[in-house]
Formats: sequence, structure tokens, C-alpha cells
Amino acid sequence: MTKKILILPGDGIGPEIVAQAEKVLAFLIEERGVKLELEHGLLGGCAVDAAGVPLPEETLAKAKESDAILLGSVGGPKWETIERSLRPERGLLAIRAGLGLFANLRPAVLFPELASASTLRADVVSGLDIMIVRELTGGIYFGEPRGIRELDDGQRQGFNTLVYSESEIERIARVAFESAEKRQGRLCSVDKANVLEATELWREVVTELSKEYPKVELQHMYVDNAAMQLVRDPKQFDVIVTSNLFGDILSDLASMLTGSIGMLPSASLASDGSGMYEPIHGSAPDIANQNVANPLATILSLSMLFRYSLENAEIAVQIEQAVSQVLSDGLRTKDIDAEGMTSVGTDEMGDAVVKALSSIN
Ligand code: IPM
Ligand code: MG
Repeated sequence: MTKKILILPGDGIGPEIVAQAEKVLAFLIEERGVKLELEHGLLGGCAVDAAGVPLPEETLAKAKESDAILLGSVGGPKWETIERSLRPERGLLAIRAGLGLFANLRPAVLFPELASASTLRADVVSGLDIMIVRELTGGIYFGEPRGIRELDDGQRQGFNTLVYSESEIERIARVAFESAEKRQGRLCSVDKANVLEATELWREVVTELSKEYPKVELQHMYVDNAAMQLVRDPKQFDVIVTSNLFGDILSDLASMLTGSIGMLPSASLASDGSGMYEPIHGSAPDIANQNVANPLATILSLSMLFRYSLENAEIAVQIEQAVSQVLSDGLRTKDIDAEGMTSVGTDEMGDAVVKALSSIN
């Protein structure tokens, strides 16, 4: 059956990195006979420019009809000062919410070839393989009331609301327990239960649910300690489950353990298995259109797309192998470059991955 993939290149480096993943898709369609129908759409600043809103109705409608979405990145200085509700990031949050993409999987895996690219000692990070499960459609990102108001004394006050219902906590925890069952069987739930009631409830619900997963060893950790432990001894972690905001922060932190944020993919899944796939990095406007951005996080996001939404683990593995191959061939974009390696641009890296893929059967 032909599967529909919606491609949303977005802003900044988005279009150039997505173009590399599209080379991989073109190869799979033309040379491997994979049946895919590709569509393109607008999300983010480019949508604001073309349609006046960061998430046009047409994009959301196309997204709902597709089996999976591949996203580049959104945002940039051009749109930082426009009305808040029209900013590109709001489009990203709206598509996550609109599609019910509550489960964000952010694996932080170190490719052995990049052990020296990390700012941490190679012995601390070698063999690193963490799965961060971030709640994506709730918490302080979406809680109401929110805004900036004027107080009686004339000064302004900014406010946001951290809310989590039991069902929201339970469904994300379930994803994490199931992931841990398939991995090393260890789950660390990260909260701030010593200060925030919403996360006190989080801890209770996760603990209660753990009874259904006797094979998974559950541990709780406060977020400040988790940040410290991730730098001190990251290999102690297998799966981490946490709220929207804490997951946003910890996944950026974890990405640097692996050498570069340019390497980390992510999957955002709905309860029916449909999903959106994107690199965890931003739109990096400062390096856009210079052919220097690392496309590997986007290509690895495509691998996750095949694994989770198209249920084609074989192709997912082949894409990962192709990425490993180019790294062991010594090809490096600027963010992961090192002495003795071959420096390549965005385009060359994409071509090299396709070439490596074509030699895998
Ligand atoms: C991410 C990004 C987004 C987020 C921004 C761009 C809204 O940082 O996907 O991690 O905070 O979720
Ligand atoms: Mg982030």
C-alpha cells in the first residue's frame, strides 16, 4: 500500500537539511521500489509569509491525511517580533497539539566514530544510548491561563500554568515503560516533586503504573539532579520520561553528550501510531543557506519515520547503517569536524548517505 508522507521543510536550515532526507526518499522510491507518495506543505515562518499564519489550515488538513510527516525546523529572527500568536514556534506547537502528538521520543545515541566530538571525555560517553521520552502536548507549554498582564502598580507580570492530568501522565508513562521493556528495562522518571504539585502527581501516577510493568526497574529523580547526573555519568540512564519543559531542556543537554545537536533525531507520536519526525535542533538561521548544516539528524529522523509510522524496520536500520558508514569513512560536517577527517558540506553529506545506502542490501 502506498504511504503518504507530508514534508514540511520550514525555515532557516530546514529546507537544505530536508532536501538531503528527500534524496534518501527519492533513492528508496526509485531504486528500491518503496511505495511512497510525497507531498509538501508550509509550517512556521515561511507559512506566515505565504499565508499569514504559522500553521495554515491546508497544512493541518494534509497532515491529518498523511501517514507520517517529516519536518525540518521552524523560526528565525525575521519573525521574532511579530504578534505572539503568529510566531513560527506557535505553528509547531499547534501542529503537535492538532495531531495529538503527545509522545516525543528523543534518542541520544553516540556513534562510536564521534566519541571524540563530545565535550565530555570519551570514556564517559562511549557506548551511550539513552531514550528520552518527553511529554509533548501538555504541561506549561499549553497550560492556561498564560500571558503578560499589567499589575495594579503599573508593572507587567508574565505568567504560565503548569498542569498535568492523571490521564496525560499515564499515557506518556506507558510509552516510556513499554520502551524500557524493549531496551535495558530501566526507567528514570524526572520531576520536581519536592516543589511542584503538578509533578508530585506525576510521581504518584508513574509509581502506580509501574505495578503493570514488573520487569521495568523504576527510579525517580529531581530534574536538577538529572541534569547533573547526565553530565556526570550519562550511561547510568536507559529510558528517561519527563514533562514537556524538562524534556525540552534535558534533550538539548543529552544531545551534546553525543557530539553535536546536529546528530539527534526525534519522533512525535500520536496514540494511533501516526507521527511527525524532526531533528531536535532549531532552524539555525546564522548558518542557513551556507551548505554547512549537518543533515544527519534529519536523515536519522527519516529512519525513525520508517521504524515507527511505516513499520519498516529494515529500511530504518539500513538508513542508520548508511549514516554509520559515512561517519566511519571520515566525512564530517562543520559541527562534528575533527583533524584528519574529510570536511563536507550539507549537500555532499546527503549524497554520501545515499551512496552508502545504495551499497547496502
Ligand atoms: C524543540 C524546540 C521547540 C520546543 C521550540 C522550537 C518551540 O525547542 O522541539 O525542542 O520547545 O519544543
Ligand atoms: Mg528544544
